[in-house]
Amino acid sequence: MLAEPHFKRCPGIWKMLMAAVCVALLSSLQAQDLPGQVSIILLGATGDLARKYLWQGLFHLYLEEVGKGHHFRFHGTALTSTEQGQEVIAKVLESLSCPRDMAPGHCAELKAQFQQLSEYRQLKTPKDYLALSKDIEAQVEHEGLREIGRIFYLSVPPFAYVDIARNINSSCRPGPGAWLRVVLEKPFGHDLHSAQQLAAELGSFFREEEMYRVDHYLGKQVVAQILPFRDQNRAALDGLWNRHHVERVEVVMKETLDAEGRTSFYEEYGVIRDVLQNHLTEVLTLVAMELPVNISSPEAVLQHKLQAFPVLRGLQRHSAVLGQYQAYSGQVRRELQKPDSFHSLTPTFAGILVHIDNLRWEGVPFILMSGKVLDERVSYVRILFKNQAFCVQSEKHWVAAQSRCLPRQIIFHIGHGELGSPAVLVSRNLFRPALPSAGWKEVEGRPGLRLFGLPLSDYYAYSPVREQDAYSQLISHIFHCRKDSFVTTENLLASWAFWTPLLDSLAHEVPRLYPGGAENGQLLDFELSGGHLSFSQPLPEQLVPGPDSAPLPSDFQVLRAKYRESPLISAWPEELIARLAGDIEAAAVRAVRRFGEFHLALSGGSSPVALFQQLATGHYSFPWAHTHLWLVDERCVPLWDPESNFQGLQTHLLQHVRVPHYNVHPMPVHRRQRLCAEEDQGTQAYAEEISALVTNSSFDLVLLGMGADGHTASLFPQSPTGLDGEQLVVLTTSPSSPHRRMSLSLPLINRARKVAVLVMGRMKREIAMLVSRVGHEPKKWPISGVLPDSGQLVWYMDYDAFLG
Ligand code: BG6
Repeated sequence: MLAEPHFKRCPGIWKMLMAAVCVALLSSLQAQDLPGQVSIILLGATGDLARKYLWQGLFHLYLEEVGKGHHFRFHGTALTSTEQGQEVIAKVLESLSCPRDMAPGHCAELKAQFQQLSEYRQLKTPKDYLALSKDIEAQVEHEGLREIGRIFYLSVPPFAYVDIARNINSSCRPGPGAWLRVVLEKPFGHDLHSAQQLAAELGSFFREEEMYRVDHYLGKQVVAQILPFRDQNRAALDGLWNRHHVERVEVVMKETLDAEGRTSFYEEYGVIRDVLQNHLTEVLTLVAMELPVNISSPEAVLQHKLQAFPVLRGLQRHSAVLGQYQAYSGQVRRELQKPDSFHSLTPTFAGILVHIDNLRWEGVPFILMSGKVLDERVSYVRILFKNQAFCVQSEKHWVAAQSRCLPRQIIFHIGHGELGSPAVLVSRNLFRPALPSAGWKEVEGRPGLRLFGLPLSDYYAYSPVREQDAYSQLISHIFHCRKDSFVTTENLLASWAFWTPLLDSLAHEVPRLYPGGAENGQLLDFELSGGHLSFSQPLPEQLVPGPDSAPLPSDFQVLRAKYRESPLISAWPEELIARLAGDIEAAAVRAVRRFGEFHLALSGGSSPVALFQQLATGHYSFPWAHTHLWLVDERCVPLWDPESNFQGLQTHLLQHVRVPHYNVHPMPVHRRQRLCAEEDQGTQAYAEEISALVTNSSFDLVLLGMGADGHTASLFPQSPTGLDGEQLVVLTTSPSSPHRRMSLSLPLINRARKVAVLVMGRMKREIAMLVSRVGHEPKKWPISGVLPDSGQLVWYMDYDAFLG
């Protein structure tokens, strides 16, 4: 019978059981005495994954659990005909192996039992599902058992999920008192939208606690050891696991294989979707998340893991370098019957720079890297610590365990590489780690072997006593309800929300071609500078004939012209933002030099986000300590509301730079717990603050945008408020929600020394054309009223807005 603690760890199942007890107390009490059976239904049982790993994992589960009184039945299913399927399965079952330390006779006996308990059947139609369910019920009854649960393992392509889910839900759920677990294999969507769609569909058939989404990296022994290691070594790590001590973190998965034979999948996904969005992100969160007090609580682990996502800084195009092995396009042409002229843009290599904006990790680069056809196969996480020591004695006197001058690092060596096995390595000059002695042993010395710049002997090195493949581990965790080894819906969507904007922005990026293997030389080496990643070597022309592609932004110069009689700067978005950020910094430096301070008024909305990010990451000489930040306009929502302009400024700029708090001036839209109430006199208060701090109420720089209806700041067409008169700050009404706004008035804007208007995107094309022709008509197009009294007006428009 299944042990009680097993149920306790699965509250959903516990509740179901309780319900069953209420409905039929007597019969249930009698049934409780019967031995329990779990049925495992493997869909796609003849496929690659099943043949390579899943059957072996099921056998492993059987070996682990059979002595504990559980009864099992294994149903391999697929669309394949019964005869053919039986043949395949018979071969697979024959090839199963036992752990090395098991006596051959015992192994043969258990294998024979397992073979007897396993069957193959075709599972295609709703009728087949119903028949399967009935057969399980009949068999359980016939053998005098009690059904305690069913596991459906879907090793099938994702397009089949929904149909299968529907069939399981309608015809194959176990009866009351028994649980259901449905195991799903990636891909779980292609981007945030598709992942949401799939999650919603699956959610209509199964409860969250019934779903087990597999990320096989979570089953790798070393990955599964990251949290226990952090937990057991809290005393040593508490002071070290933070930005003060960690130089950088590398999460790496290098492969030697290519994508041949699976280009139809790979062409759709590419390296970021295939392994970074899932495997490497999972590993990253295990390193970066806050450690729960109780790491054996799956709920606590999952919750802490989820909390790691909102603090990941949004990725930009320059957070990534991309590559593609040279033979890839040819393989795609052959396998997908593409014409000779076809060149794929799918990356097979990516390096990504991730920053985490919290107090623990601020400023520490996390580098994620993976690629096909590289020089070696290896996966690891490397935590490299800062080294501030200066050693007086010469190197020959350094002793590994004592010298503070040797590199200090912890490596979770997930697998392969020169070491050839999973291991946890800790530099001897850090601390002697504690690992569970039951499962881990010290790695034997290998003279001559150097890892990450040090001889193996310079590390405390531990590897698993018994190596186990990830799927065996995960199948055991499914059985034991260890939900923290799986990807929840919330986690999945948080990860896609993090990656999707980058994937969108890279959609047309041309990856650097690389020859593959050792020949790659230094071609793919990349480096970090100014918060960006770039390849270390310039592109060697002869190697990269380059797919015929659209012109790149760098093919164009920044264009200078006039727009409405004022200077216009036009470029591709990235150059434009870089140029504007540079101009703002130059204005700030000038103002601080002359007046000791710089007053900058910023608009909200989406266009300035990239500018804020650029200022936050690439402008270290910006005189933030002497800069005052003002808001051009604000929505009448609390300042913490995601719709608030101040919140956007906070997220994308303020939290990354060192502006003194007293220099930040949010608009007072939320006073006395009311939003923009006239009687609270927020507009007067802001005007007084400006008059008191800004000489002549003349901002050094005002950044504006232009709406598709010609509005600017929160001054809207057909609304007279704020277009003229004495008032410096006004309340206005926007045609779109939230309707109530606070805004600087046009006369105040026009007092500025410089006004920059940033206009980006195709959606602005029409209004940009229209406004280029109209005169001074602020009532119809408030933007046309922007004309600084004595300051300068400069238009910054990207090519999409300017040229269409
Ligand atoms: C899979 C990817 O999820 O992981 C493959 O789809 C990749 O492209 C594989 O090769 C790598 O896994 P492992 O266990 O060999 O590191």
